[in-house]
Amino acid sequence: MTSASSTTHQPVQQRAPGTPVLPDTPFRFIGYFVAQFRWWYAAMLAAETLNATCGIMIPYALSRVIKGVTSAQEQSLALIDALHVPLMIFFAFSIGEVLFGRLAGGIQIRLGPRQRQNVTRHVYHYLQHHSHRYLSNNFAGALAHRISETSMGVTQTLWSLITEFWPIFIVFSVSIALLYGAHPSLAAFVFIWAVLFIGISYALARRAQPYAFKASSARSETTGQVVDSVTNLASARLFARLGHERALLDETLKRELKAVRTSNGYSERVRWFQFSAAAVLKIGTLYYALQLWGSGEIGVAEFVMAVSLSLLIINEARNLSRRFLEFFEFIGNVANGVHTIVRSHELIDQPGASPATIRDGRIEFRQVDFGYGGERRVFDSLSLTIPAGQRVGLVGFSGSGKSTFVSTLLRLYDLDGGQILIDGVDIRTMTQDALHSQLGLIPQDPTLFHRSLRENIRYGRLEASDAEVEDAARKAHAHDFILQLREGYAGMVGERGVKLSGGQRQRIAIARVILKDAPILILDEATSSLDSITERAIQETLDEVMKGKTVLVVAHRLSTIAHLDRILVFDDGRIVEDGSHAELLALRGAYWRLWSKQSDGFLPESIDGEPKAPLEAVPAGSATPAASAGAPKPVETGEEAERKPRIDPDVSFA
Ligand SMILES: Nc1ncnc2c1ncn2[C@@H]1O[C@H](COP(=O)(O)OP(=O)(O)OP(=O)(O)O)[C@@H](O)[C@H]1O
Ligand SMILES: [Mg+2]
Repeated sequence: MTSASSTTHQPVQQRAPGTPVLPDTPFRFIGYFVAQFRWWYAAMLAAETLNATCGIMIPYALSRVIKGVTSAQEQSLALIDALHVPLMIFFAFSIGEVLFGRLAGGIQIRLGPRQRQNVTRHVYHYLQHHSHRYLSNNFAGALAHRISETSMGVTQTLWSLITEFWPIFIVFSVSIALLYGAHPSLAAFVFIWAVLFIGISYALARRAQPYAFKASSARSETTGQVVDSVTNLASARLFARLGHERALLDETLKRELKAVRTSNGYSERVRWFQFSAAAVLKIGTLYYALQLWGSGEIGVAEFVMAVSLSLLIINEARNLSRRFLEFFEFIGNVANGVHTIVRSHELIDQPGASPATIRDGRIEFRQVDFGYGGERRVFDSLSLTIPAGQRVGLVGFSGSGKSTFVSTLLRLYDLDGGQILIDGVDIRTMTQDALHSQLGLIPQDPTLFHRSLRENIRYGRLEASDAEVEDAARKAHAHDFILQLREGYAGMVGERGVKLSGGQRQRIAIARVILKDAPILILDEATSSLDSITERAIQETLDEVMKGKTVLVVAHRLSTIAHLDRILVFDDGRIVEDGSHAELLALRGAYWRLWSKQSDGFLPESIDGEPKAPLEAVPAGSATPAASAGAPKPVETGEEAERKPRIDPDVSFA
């Protein structure tokens, strides 16, 4: 599940400016939203109070009617007249119960959905400002689920309080008051019963909570497993593991059954308590009232009222334990959401951050220290200047820090030390919006929105016309394949863009950035999913697009960056070589060695496993012949044998 523990509560220390000031504890969180509709809630509470009072006053009205009937000498029409007032009271309470009940219901159906949307809107806004690190640590699906659970939880908790617990409280208090009027000892009996009943119901619900929790986790575990199995159904089929998957599911179902049985068993015990308690109240009131009537302490009217009140109380307080249990669950859902989402925003705009736009695009790393939080630092005092308009290629082994370089420039992470400046301005003093609107990034594995292709491309500049969108698509060599799709530009791309091939997705991402036309352009393996011919074609467009911009190109295929103004060779977070293609070749160092492997446009990716193995098997700075000997031996083609002498195994990479 979420890596950040959702049960521990950490007070919010900083939040992004402009985001809602959501409280970080569940009850205050709910209070925050109640305050926004306070009059509606007050009206609903009043309606519920009147509704419950009317309901519980009906036995009282009934007792007045009975009193009138029993005091009359004989049956007559005149009696009906004499009963006029008690009957009016009876009608008024009956009608009041209906009207106030429906009024409360009417407010509830209007207020509920609005409040849910309101919570969703606020929580989503808050979530949007969480850092890249936070989003990589939490599953998108789990977060989306938390948002909906939290918004449901807020309304459910409130309904539970207003429409269930509050009426119970009213019913108990009014009944006890009425009974007190009849005979104090009747009131004392019901009062003691109520205290015991509520106390025991609460205690039982508390004890049932862990069982209910285990049952519900077991259910979600099953759901999770089914989702995982369905997602990987194609793999299961191709590995002929359909039976295996069913067996795994059976195991999970068995565990679920056990947990659910335990929980249901406990609930059944609770039900035993509730029914017995109800019986005690019914029989007790009847018996005791009868005694009091027998000794002449109360009349028939009070007797009938006492018995019908006890029935009403039982009706109202039925399932109190279950309601407590549900209440714990609702408030638990809110607590989960609050603790997961309402946390400090890790990376925020400084007060007074400048929204100024970038004009030239000069990039400077000044003694940058950065690590992802583990022991290992990626950058240690890295310094580098890239003049405005320079086109720079970034190369190096996998894991050498190229993407990290890009991520820190994008301010997806804050630095541990040093500064990154663009046009002499520290990126931390810019608003993130200002920074990001000036940087165009084409990532290695771009994900698209499940929206039409047109919308996906237009994301680069929302006000672009259809013609401009198509023009960008043409430049990215996406226009033709889009037209071949059944619905063309209106076609949907599937979740994260799964209905497109990797290369097609990349071309959409390129079109989108062409449309954005930012002064700094970053390509992180932007063309890695394209075949060589498409890549070469796009390269020409990209060269066109790069004109007048500062450009960073991360590439494993050196042929795509050889023509750039400058090449930086990364190794273990350091820049070990810096210069033009020709200069670096003349150095006969790391770049030269990489180039020798890939030269003549002979892309090593096209030889099965050949390039990666020797490249990665040589740990930076420790490439001894012995170490190389341990590496998988490449298949020797004729060509290979011919090129071999150009590679000097003794030259280490650092
Ligand atoms: N999100 C992350 N959390 C923790 N460590 C990370 C994270 N991303 C990268 N690293 C680590 O930082 C180091 C540099 O990784 P980086 O992604 O910058 O390499 P790279 O040069 O882009 O590699 P590649 O060529 O494979 O894309 C690696 O050791 C990597 O394991
Ligand atoms: Mg990378």
